[in-house]
Amino acid sequence: MTSHSAIEARGLVKRYGHVTAVDHVDLTVRAGDVYGYLGPNGAGKTTSLRMLLGLIRPDEGSAKLFGRDPLVEGVGALDGVAGFVEAPRFYPYMTGRRNLELVAALDGGDAAERIDAALETVDLHKRQHDKVKGYSHGMRQRLGIAGALLRDPRLLLLDEPTTGLDPAGMRDMRALVHRLASEGMTVLLSSHLMSEVEELCDRVAIVARGRVIHEGSLEELIASTSGRYELRTTDDDRATAIAARAEGIGELETTSHGLTFTAEERAVAALTLSLAQAGIGLTALVPRTATLEELFFRLTEGDQEPRPALRVIDAKGKVAA
Ligand SMILES: Nc1ncnc2c1ncn2[C@@H]1O[C@H](COP(=O)(O)OP(=O)(O)OP(=O)(O)O)[C@@H](O)[C@H]1O
Ligand SMILES: [Mg+2]
Repeated sequence: MTSHSAIEARGLVKRYGHVTAVDHVDLTVRAGDVYGYLGPNGAGKTTSLRMLLGLIRPDEGSAKLFGRDPLVEGVGALDGVAGFVEAPRFYPYMTGRRNLELVAALDGGDAAERIDAALETVDLHKRQHDKVKGYSHGMRQRLGIAGALLRDPRLLLLDEPTTGLDPAGMRDMRALVHRLASEGMTVLLSSHLMSEVEELCDRVAIVARGRVIHEGSLEELIASTSGRYELRTTDDDRATAIAARAEGIGELETTSHGLTFTAEERAVAALTLSLAQAGIGLTALVPRTATLEELFFRLTEGDQEPRPALRVIDAKGKVAA
């Protein structure tokens, strides 16, 4: 039996005038993955998800869902795939339940029979007879997921489902995604929050300016940043000069509280001896793995989003602009 990836996108491109919103994206999501599609504003997350959901056509490339391409095989290829981009849309003057009934009528099949269970799953059964216009943002998002669940999906595509929610709403939404995933649903979740992806996902694609700049397991990604050290001394300026000349010390950077570099253990030991010989005391030497957040900023460097700057200190101890 052949088992297909839940998503296999190859060379997806979408252009809007001179903007290339999605630029040759390859994406492989295995069945059972909770996959994070992580990127800053304007990275092309929503556009990518729109193509995967068959809402817009790619200019180039193709996407297969469980081995079937909706552009070739028609909407039938979207069976078992559900989700929404940006925010789910509902009729505000109708109740949550009535909205789901309309969704079910459009979907056909036995979707209507799943309404009660879906409302229960997203914890809206008590508010199902209230009009959607009175729902909070979090409730609307959850109703959106209920709408998706009516299709009995194997693959759920969620575009920043926690954006705009308060901390409690975020927690509830993440718990819901976690629960659906633990029941075996494959989830592709876009996000601009590293912590969210770290909490929920086992694999990640980091996107910036329409391109996937890193793809792989979160574990590998975090492990790839090991070998970095943070050093504080009684004389950071001289320590920096010594480290710059030392064998095996790479990526030397001065921060507001010491220096950081990459090195193998042997080179670190040699450096500490050189520092001691120079009469420089160590106040801290800490091996560290970058947080996903730092990594994200490093990888997406060069776009327009604000980021915590790495401060560079000149020889006189002044913070360089
Ligand atoms: N319908 C459209 N018409 C013109 N430009 C578009 C359209 N949709 C997206 N774009 C452009 O494509 C780029 C990617 O947009 P997209 O909405 O996919 O990013 P995103 O990663 O979802 O961002 P955000 O985090 O803000 O939701 C942006 O530069 C955007 O302006
Ligand atoms: Mg978006």
